Amino acid sequence: MNLQNNSQQENNTGRYEKLKICVYPGSFDPVTNGHLDIIHRAVKICDKLIVAVGNNVNKKPTFTIEERVELLRRALKDYPEIQIDSFSGLLMDYVRDQNATTIIKGLRAVSDFEYEFQMALLNKNLNPDVETLFMMTNINYSFLSSSAVKELAMNGGSIDGLVPDCIKDIVLNKLKNGKAQLI
Ligand SMILES: Nc1ncnc2c1ncn2[C@@H]1O[C@H](COP(=O)(O)OP(=O)(O)OP(=O)(O)O)[C@@H](O)[C@H]1O
Ligand SMILES: [Mg+2]
Repeated sequence: MNLQNNSQQENNTGRYEKLKICVYPGSFDPVTNGHLDIIHRAVKICDKLIVAVGNNVNKKPTFTIEERVELLRRALKDYPEIQIDSFSGLLMDYVRDQNATTIIKGLRAVSDFEYEFQMALLNKNLNPDVETLFMMTNINYSFLSSSAVKELAMNGGSIDGLVPDCIKDIVLNKLKNGKAQLI
């Protein structure tokens, strides 16, 4: 068996090959340094990474889909090879339309695990050919979520080091004035 590097997975013929098209879905409301850490690690192990902003019906987003996509574009301006997109409806339909093989998810605490475990099994049931790959959080960002960033920003706390510097003021403005000021 030829294990050239850790960016390979076993296919059903028993051979190892690089992950092809991976989708990293989330609400990214807004993107945080925790998301970026997962993105930077994920891009190394696949041919093509699509960061996909979805609408979670259980969440009421602060930023519009277009704003969330634009914030990701700014945060990832030095990574033109990473595709940024949005989708509505079922993730598995989107994954199929993109010919993706793998869904990337980040895992922080046990609290993430229960929900993600259920989603991974549901998605596996919908399409057994697609794998969900979990990446453990970077310990420096294990406490970090978009909700925590918004709560801090809304209450005058510092969000330095929690979101990329290039979007910090946009996030603070949106939370204080309700406007994203993207221009
Ligand atoms: N700090 C982090 N470390 C590792 N994974 C993360 C981190 N923050 C988010 N993720 C992962 O990124 C994906 C998308 O997450 P999502 O956009 O819901 O962010 P979130 O921070 O959990 O937002 P919210 O606070 O609105 O729930 C999920 O798989 C989530 O587990
Ligand atoms: Mg969450």
